[in-house]
Amino acid sequence: MFINFWYCAATTENVGEQPLQVRMLGQDFVLFRDSAGSVHCLNDVCAHRGASLSHGKLQGNLIQCPYPGWRYDGSGACQHIPTLPESSRIPARARVDSYPTIEKHGMVFAFLGDLPEDQRPPRLEVNEWGDDGWSSIVQQWELGYPYMRAVENAMDVFHNDFVHPEFMVPDAAQGNREVPLFDFTETEWNTTFMTRLPNNELDDSVIPSVEGDSIAQVNTGHIGVSSYFSFVQISAEQRLCLYFYATPIDRLHTRLFLVTTRNFMPGEKHDQEMIQGNEHVVMQDVAVIGGIRPYTTPANNVTELLIAEDRGVAAYRERVKEWTAKGWRIDSAALAADEGLSVYAVPSPARKESSNWVINPVPLI
Ligand code: FES
Ligand SMILES: [Fe+2]
Repeated sequence: MFINFWYCAATTENVGEQPLQVRMLGQDFVLFRDSAGSVHCLNDVCAHRGASLSHGKLQGNLIQCPYPGWRYDGSGACQHIPTLPESSRIPARARVDSYPTIEKHGMVFAFLGDLPEDQRPPRLEVNEWGDDGWSSIVQQWELGYPYMRAVENAMDVFHNDFVHPEFMVPDAAQGNREVPLFDFTETEWNTTFMTRLPNNELDDSVIPSVEGDSIAQVNTGHIGVSSYFSFVQISAEQRLCLYFYATPIDRLHTRLFLVTTRNFMPGEKHDQEMIQGNEHVVMQDVAVIGGIRPYTTPANNVTELLIAEDRGVAAYRERVKEWTAKGWRIDSAALAADEGLSVYAVPSPARKESSNWVINPVPLI
């Protein structure tokens, strides 16, 4: 698991009147909405004696700890200590980490790390959200395998014939075709490529067929460590775009958010069909990925036999090595050995300006 990336923390509709506890990167965070409607993300551990802020309540723009009632603002600064005489100042260390947030495309993203704004890796943007002629849905699942396995699955487009036999590829072509990768591109943050499908016959028991020319092609890639996409050109006019945000809950569990945009089957009346189609496909992946051993991506490729078609997976793993070399990787083995006895915080940008914090930062490799 890595600090210094944007993660999807929740859907917009999940963040309501009450503070919401969200576990990410093996740590607990609290999300809450201030009276202006802005969402804040704080470390969930009160600087006083460690109570969970998400068990507290909102007092105007402040979140009040459920224990002796310290109140914090969205920047993580404590603004009120009930027992402090009015003449006393609130100690400088009375604060918790606060993480930059962006609410967009029906989701709340949090930047979990300490990089200043101009150095942060890009977020996967939903290009068509709200555009004329496009419809969108948002879904989420909790998965019992590590997020990197989900990204690798997307980078391995060859699994589609076998794991999703009724999805895009007609019977005659399944499992018996070369799948060249076109326009294979690697950058500091992304790996992307194109593939072509034999034609655009969709199994309408899963996803309703659409009429059109036979030029189906798919643009696949990952953006950063945990986001990936699949843009499917079903016909000359029809496009289906899948945006995945695989947020690590901890080293073995993942919360997967999926935004799907489409310029066919318009409007809410077709949403349910799309939701069921995605559910079907994701569960087909889950059935296979949940059985991969080892659970976590191996540190090197020695215990696997990668071949040329695994180029997408290999490129992603190269990026992961580079991000590890930057010192962004959480030392999960150290956390596991600690058995949760210590408390940690993912470092926030404010830690670059001051080292005066109550909670220690998570150990990094
Ligand atoms: S633990 Fe939060 S106010 Fe004491
Ligand atoms: Fe799949």
